[in-house]
Amino acid sequence: GKEIQIAIDGPASAGKSTVAKLVAKHFNFIYCDTGAMYRTLTLKAMQEGVELTNEAGLVKLLSTTEIKFKPGKPDQKVFLDGKEVTTDIRQPDVTNNVSTVAAIGSVREELTNRQRQIADEGGIVMDGRDIGTTVLPNAQVKIFLVASVDERAKRRFADNDAKGIHTPLEVLKQEIETRDYKDSHREIAPLTQAEDAVKVDTTPMTIQEVVDEIIQITSNKI
Ligand code: C5P
Repeated sequence: GKEIQIAIDGPASAGKSTVAKLVAKHFNFIYCDTGAMYRTLTLKAMQEGVELTNEAGLVKLLSTTEIKFKPGKPDQKVFLDGKEVTTDIRQPDVTNNVSTVAAIGSVREELTNRQRQIADEGGIVMDGRDIGTTVLPNAQVKIFLVASVDERAKRRFADNDAKGIHTPLEVLKQEIETRDYKDSHREIAPLTQAEDAVKVDTTPMTIQEVVDEIIQITSNKI
């Protein structure tokens, strides 16, 4: 289509969703958090006792799973089969299990289809791991957002603190590294920078600086 697509990929806790939401707001585009979709399926599998490596079981579960985003304040809310799970999907047990579910090819295939349907609805900012490489390969703007692991652990620590989650900094660092390793080394659609993506290292940048840079890059393409 002629609608603008902005793909933002990168490792865990690089600030993708924070930045993506603000860029979407600026252009009045839809924002799609694809990580939330993998998290929501993971949460449901854990609740229903479906083994996280059981491909057939997960595909069957996903076929009767509705994942919806609804506008909310301050951020959009996530619904699983009509029930709000916005904070549940950010809990450490989901975070530490999601990469296992996300490595399964047929799960990715179905969620990729759903993500493309959302993108068909209009101008979009989509964040994840494989948006520029796989989900929206024709996106006009592709950003690969990175930051040092120390900086990302610090940011996650502050986020967690605000939510009342108290995982030590060193543990967070280890969890981030483990998740990045799994996400980058899986067989299907691993985390990798698209050839035509612009790398932005946010380590020394403020959120507003990152947002402004992406708006600038996008404005040059419109
Ligand atoms: O972005 P977020 O950290 O919420 O993503 C959670 C997990 O979902 C990632 O660690 C990854 O395993 C998976 N994911 C993915 N592909 C995407 C988005 C997320 O595999 N496009």
